[in-house]
Amino acid sequence: MTHTQWRRRVFKPVAWLACLTPAALLLYNGFQGELGANPVETITNSTGIWTLRLIVASLVVTPLRWATGVNQLINYRRLIGLFAFFYGTLHFLTYFILDHQLQFTGLWDDVVKRPYITAGFTAFVLMIPLAITSTAGWIRRMGGKKWNLLHRLIYITALAAVLHYFWKVKLDATYPIYYGIGVAVLLGIRVWRNARRRPAS
Ligand code: HEM
Repeated sequence: MTHTQWRRRVFKPVAWLACLTPAALLLYNGFQGELGANPVETITNSTGIWTLRLIVASLVVTPLRWATGVNQLINYRRLIGLFAFFYGTLHFLTYFILDHQLQFTGLWDDVVKRPYITAGFTAFVLMIPLAITSTAGWIRRMGGKKWNLLHRLIYITALAAVLHYFWKVKLDATYPIYYGIGVAVLLGIRVWRNARRRPAS
């Protein structure tokens, strides 16, 4: 098989399966009635953490490509990013529908008054233009430079998402701190590389 065939027949389906597994497990556990004492909280937390994991995974792709020279890795970045948006949408909808019964006023009150919701909302809203412009058509229409610039919004999303997580957990911030360090390293690598490539003036 050529690399394209491997990609189409093996790697892509495996990536799809991996990204869909958390949602499938959640659905399965839901039908089994095994979502714990507070199912809404379980669904919100599970979709939230998978959103964050996939955001981080999408940020790993480029440095991994630089480190390994395997340029084909770029083919998986959009898939991972769109799944991050998928889980982010499920996460937001769980909160908006099950916690707020689709009431915009309640949602807005939370966004304005609760810092962790402000951060989560910012992270999610900034993903919307990225999801919309993720197609080849949009890349062509916008031109690579503008598209790259717009897609830097993912850095703000990642930082806001970590802050959201950090502010949400009240007792033990160990995991948010781990994610924070991960995001800082992934963004730091980019800053370092950019600084090295740009000759000092
Ligand atoms: C990129 C966007 C987002 C990411 C990555 C994210 C991530 C997370 C994470 C990791 C958690 C905690 C999971 C845990 O403690 O195990 C969480 C909880 C939560 N998130 Fe988000 N979130 C995002 C957007 C939002 C938005 C837009 C809202 C609502 C407007 C929201 C509302 C909540 C709520 C209410 C909880 C607490 C659930 C509970 O304890 O009942 N999040 N989120």
